[in-house]
Amino acid sequence: MKISKVYIGYMSPTGGVKKTARLLHAGFAAAGVNCGSFNCLTPAQRQLPPTFSADDVLILCFPVFAGRVPQCLTDWPELQGNGSHAFAAAVYGNRACEDAPREMLDFLKAHGFNIAGYAELVARHSLEPRLGAGRPNDQDEAYLHQLAADIVKEIESDDLTETITFKEMGPYKPYGSWVQPEKISPENCEHCHLCAKICPVHIIDADGSTAPELKSKCLGCMACVTHCRRHNRALPPAAAKATTEKMNKIYALNQEPKPNKAVFGSW
Ligand SMILES: Cc1cc2nc3c(=O)[nH]c(=O)nc-3n(C[C@H](O)[C@H](O)[C@H](O)COP(=O)(O)O)c2cc1C
Repeated sequence: MKISKVYIGYMSPTGGVKKTARLLHAGFAAAGVNCGSFNCLTPAQRQLPPTFSADDVLILCFPVFAGRVPQCLTDWPELQGNGSHAFAAAVYGNRACEDAPREMLDFLKAHGFNIAGYAELVARHSLEPRLGAGRPNDQDEAYLHQLAADIVKEIESDDLTETITFKEMGPYKPYGSWVQPEKISPENCEHCHLCAKICPVHIIDADGSTAPELKSKCLGCMACVTHCRRHNRALPPAAAKATTEKMNKIYALNQEPKPNKAVFGSW
């Protein structure tokens, strides 16, 4: 099959996934393939994904949260493959991807995509910058360029017959639970509504607050903290302390840089 167009979808609350997506995009361009990108961070952006034809390819780049796919991405009825190919790019903070790649392949298959494979790609950890510090780096860039070329080669060879296998095949691990970042000072808020606009699960009001019954839906993704121009959003002090303690332990166990990895096959 000759690829008509590669679409790179990316959900990037704090920018790491976007860097990876850009490097992949450059790789596809270098391979001479027609390539476009679309952002799928917010509910509004997810409402209008591209319309895929059988000779298109989706590369879905997403962050791993507690070994899972962010729930808003698998609650996405508008994304329909129509018999096109898909490759799942799980971006993670040098700890582990666990169930996230398998979960994404299950989702994409159920939405009409033919699976071409998946990758586990390291970026800076958005809760602990010492983890995956500086990644994607120059070596990652070379890897991602080659990965784009390999994806084209594998899909165009029409030879993705081998079934992908995972070590863990049981129920997915439970979702993580997170404390929502809050507005630090009402006086310092410039009411730009950016936090409300970029929240991937749409739980922040125009005034920067969240209804109590919606707080548990927070993904803990840090988009609102990262994007606030006034640095006026943060975890409440007790949650910040608990997160620092947890991340210190995770850092101690995962200091060694992990390699990127890609697997091709059907699912
Ligand atoms: C709530 C939360 C949970 C995370 N869980 C994991 C994890 O289980 N394993 C891992 O290696 N990285 C984990 N990370 C790190 C992100 O997957 C990683 O930093 C990713 O690049 C974030 O994408 P972004 O920079 O585009 O926001 C987590 C980050 C957050 C905010």
